[in-house]
Amino acid sequence: MTALSREIHRSGKHLGFVPTMGALHQGHLSLARTARSQSDVVVVSIFVNPRQFGPKEDFSKYPRSFEQDSALLQAEKVDYIFAPSVEEMYPQGATSWVKVEEISDRLDGRSRPGHFHGVTTVVSKLFNIIQPDLAFFGQKDAAQVAIVRKMVRDLNFDVRIVVCPIVREQDGLAMSSRNVYLSPEQRKQAVILYRALMRVQTLADQGESDAAKLMAAGKQVIAEEPAARLDYFEIVNSDTLEPVRNISHGALVAVAAHVGATRLIDNIMLMGPGQAKVGG
Ligand code: PAJ
Repeated sequence: MTALSREIHRSGKHLGFVPTMGALHQGHLSLARTARSQSDVVVVSIFVNPRQFGPKEDFSKYPRSFEQDSALLQAEKVDYIFAPSVEEMYPQGATSWVKVEEISDRLDGRSRPGHFHGVTTVVSKLFNIIQPDLAFFGQKDAAQVAIVRKMVRDLNFDVRIVVCPIVREQDGLAMSSRNVYLSPEQRKQAVILYRALMRVQTLADQGESDAAKLMAAGKQVIAEEPAARLDYFEIVNSDTLEPVRNISHGALVAVAAHVGATRLIDNIMLMGPGQAKVGG
């Protein structure tokens, strides 16, 4: 992969990279499509990264569908799929980690200790191997975006991070590889995350700017669905992930909840005055 990347750069072409864990859906494919439109050569990685799963999490049962993924990526005219084995990525004796301190302990990092250290370690390795000019990430994982951006700044990675909007099902549920875990009934209940975010959006549109009041309203919506167990509902600065008291300069509204045994996340960006909405 590194030899290939060197060759691509030598011929003056720009390389766009989309990191994924496979089990691809339209959210992933939208990233591939954006990468296709902004780069000469597109590389998508498929690697279920053991280091970002906690000991009691779903690493072993995480959906894996390489044949189908590869057909979907071919249809999007992706040039290369990089799909290393766990042994190749983490040979015995590999003990180095990339940790972005403080910000990695917020939002999902608080409920999933060590998760983002696993993410930043594998993303660093992938950046080093693939040497992309552009790397495409989904707004779906808003905390991941903030942390990867900070890592790129802190460690001077020579890559531009491009963030793509959340792709949703018809009823608003954010697409996720983990949605396959949901029973038909849970699938219907899962839309409560989006409903709670929409409630906050509506109140903000009506002029409410007190983050505490908006969070309380969002949590109230989640509480009305007995099948959902709230992990967090927070309103934070989208760069630092630190809580904000007032949303008048824009804010990230992020929610995580369990529906049955499945942990789901979603978010919206509230725009401050004069800020343009990017994407859908
Ligand atoms: P994964 O969950 O497979 O997601 C890969 C990329 O697809 C991420 O940037 C994610 O935000 C984006 N994505 C997922 N669902 C989306 C949706 N509904 N709309 C838009 N984008 C969506 O995120 C990871 O893998 C891993 O942490 C990874 C970065 C690959 C490191 O292992």
